[in-house]
Amino acid sequence: MKTTAQSSGALQAQNGESILIIESSAKDAKALKVTLESAGYNSEVVNNLEQALETLAQQDFETVIYTLSDSPDTGEHPAKLIREHTQRVNLIQVSCASEPEEAIQAIKSGADEFLEKPIAEIDLLLSVQKAKERNRLRNDNELLRSQVAKRYSFSRIIAKSPQMLEIFETIKKVSEYRTTVMLYGDSGTGKELIAKAIHHNSNRKNKRFVAINCGAIPENLLESELFGHKRGAFTDATRDKKGLFEEAEGGTILLDEIGELPVHLQVKLLRVLQEQEIRPVGEAKSTPIDVRVIAATLRDLEADVLEGRFRDDLYYRLNVISLRIPPLRERKEDIPLLVNFFIKRNQEKLGLPVYGINKDATAALIDHEWPGNIRELENCIERAMILTESDEITLESLPKTVHLADAQKNEARQMLLDDELSIKQHTRAIEEVLIKKALGKTKGNRTHAAKLLEISHRTLLYKLKQYKLTEEGAAK
Ligand SMILES: Nc1ncnc2c1ncn2[C@@H]1O[C@H](COP(=O)(O)OP(=O)(O)O)[C@@H](O)[C@H]1O
Ligand SMILES: [Mg+2]
Repeated sequence: MKTTAQSSGALQAQNGESILIIESSAKDAKALKVTLESAGYNSEVVNNLEQALETLAQQDFETVIYTLSDSPDTGEHPAKLIREHTQRVNLIQVSCASEPEEAIQAIKSGADEFLEKPIAEIDLLLSVQKAKERNRLRNDNELLRSQVAKRYSFSRIIAKSPQMLEIFETIKKVSEYRTTVMLYGDSGTGKELIAKAIHHNSNRKNKRFVAINCGAIPENLLESELFGHKRGAFTDATRDKKGLFEEAEGGTILLDEIGELPVHLQVKLLRVLQEQEIRPVGEAKSTPIDVRVIAATLRDLEADVLEGRFRDDLYYRLNVISLRIPPLRERKEDIPLLVNFFIKRNQEKLGLPVYGINKDATAALIDHEWPGNIRELENCIERAMILTESDEITLESLPKTVHLADAQKNEARQMLLDDELSIKQHTRAIEEVLIKKALGKTKGNRTHAAKLLEISHRTLLYKLKQYKLTEEGAAK
């Protein structure tokens, strides 16, 4: 073994941790043992994997270092076999040549670190430290994931807040019946996910779940999209077309953005709900259908009814059961849970070696208001996992909107902790934060910002000058 550096204090073992070395070359095994013991580790050497598994069955080790044999192996990957015996162990792979494919295989099979022969002393000790840290993160994550899986998930919806747990209960109760369900909630709160959960928990689950965004389809096409048409019903109708209601026969249809449904279709939908039959455009007779309807909206439908934009009879027909999905900022306890869930999912989906998130970053995520709700959080985590230069998500890898807002808040908070007692100074700091926030929200529109701040346009201009703020500066 090359001795390139003295083992430093930081790399010493903590209270005699023990390491199992699996190495067929007696010379290499000895070199490893000497280095590890000089750093305070206890170590034991075995020749092959079989002996190692036997030893592991009888004795606990913090770390296992195994050498990948040159001979092609047809069996299971050694890392996998070792992990099956002892899940919590730190695993280091040693190989003779570093092929990228080999490293990927190792990580996938559960190794934490790998080393290439000849091994420098410092690299060995660093790897032992890094394997410990990586394994700790992995275990934390796995523990969390299994807790999530058991306690805090329902049909792929992750949540632990009391509001959401209550929604889970309601879903369980209403799924079985054909009752119409109305979902209220801002964009990205999980309305579609909930609609799917209702479908998958019902006896309709083997039939189709169909979703349509009523606001995204031109008015003249919407009726045929929903109910289908006969050939020749209009110029472009060159053949019969099935509508989505028919596609969803026996299953569930989600009418998203129901508030955007034009009034003449509101009348038709009401008839469909009451008679349980549809009539395609250009067709003389109706056909019976069996479809469960779930509707969703981010609008205040009651206000639409009062203002005559939405028919009250349809409103009452839809609102047999209504659920309000709270925005993420009203259930911040769900944030860490969702973050870990998304990290794990992206690890699998994108193969990114990011195992967790550090404290500062978590705090910033909890502090953020999430106007785009869970969809925004989901995107934010994916982006951070790509950008982070560590194996955790760090503050720097989060979008500026998330952590700058946090820094601004910290400024105000810091002043409260300091000895600063001047009300004037505090007011100034708070005013600055609020003005920046308002301008950020209105994308620099001063008139709207002034309204949000409940001050006159003139006062805002004055304060901008006083604090040397420009809307460009604030929006950054
Ligand atoms: N509680 C949750 N747990 C896990 N993923 C969620 C949750 N809520 C929303 N999502 C995810 O966030 C995104 C937006 O959800 P979606 O149901 O489309 O929201 P909406 O229909 O209200 O706009 C989707 O990718 C969805 O899977
Ligand atoms: Mg949606």
